[in-house]
Amino acid sequence: MPRPYQPSLLRLLHGGTALAVLGCWISGLIVYSRYDGRWGRLPFTPAGHWIDLHGQIGVLLLLLAVPFLAYSLSLGRSRLRRSANSVALVALALAIGTGKLMQEDWLRQGELNHLAYSLHLLAWLLIALTVLVHVGASLQLGGWPLLASMTNPAVKKGDLPGDWPGQVRRFLRRGSGAS
Ligand code: HEM
Repeated sequence: MPRPYQPSLLRLLHGGTALAVLGCWISGLIVYSRYDGRWGRLPFTPAGHWIDLHGQIGVLLLLLAVPFLAYSLSLGRSRLRRSANSVALVALALAIGTGKLMQEDWLRQGELNHLAYSLHLLAWLLIALTVLVHVGASLQLGGWPLLASMTNPAVKKGDLPGDWPGQVRRFLRRGSGAS
């Protein structure tokens, strides 16, 4: 069976988004443990400016997630028929959207009852669950070769960064997804 190959633009946006999600998820857990802790705390909460750091990684996530979302809805849209992919994307949008609605002083001032914060906590949980399901479903679909194809840095001829504008133009002309 031929080894699966993923378009380099998808790998870049997907990988960057996944790393930023991980950074937000871990720093968010630490922020929760330091400033909230209603359902338990980490045994050890490291010192540091975690709210600021979480916000900065959140900005990076937004910058990556917007083009990733655009890619998924256009060139990659055929894969969104697989619900494990689309549900991970919805959880991502919820996490970013509710994060944008938050004010960074709320937690420092002990204001834990804002709706946006409750939804942001829910999104934190949902993103963990949906990414687990997404990785599990991808494993079921194509095994380790499919997972590896998403992180493999090798780029084929015709799929270099200089080819991306042409790929987008071809999609716009044809109006069909490249998956
Ligand atoms: C962290 C948050 C993540 C989000 C929001 C996410 C979201 C998505 C989306 C929306 C797609 C479809 C892309 C398209 O339409 O072209 C996709 C594909 C894929 N993702 Fe993720 N992903 C995440 C993390 C991961 C991780 C950690 C892995 C494990 C290596 C992974 C493996 C894959 C694979 C193998 C595919 C291709 C599946 C297919 O062809 O249907 N993803 N992902």
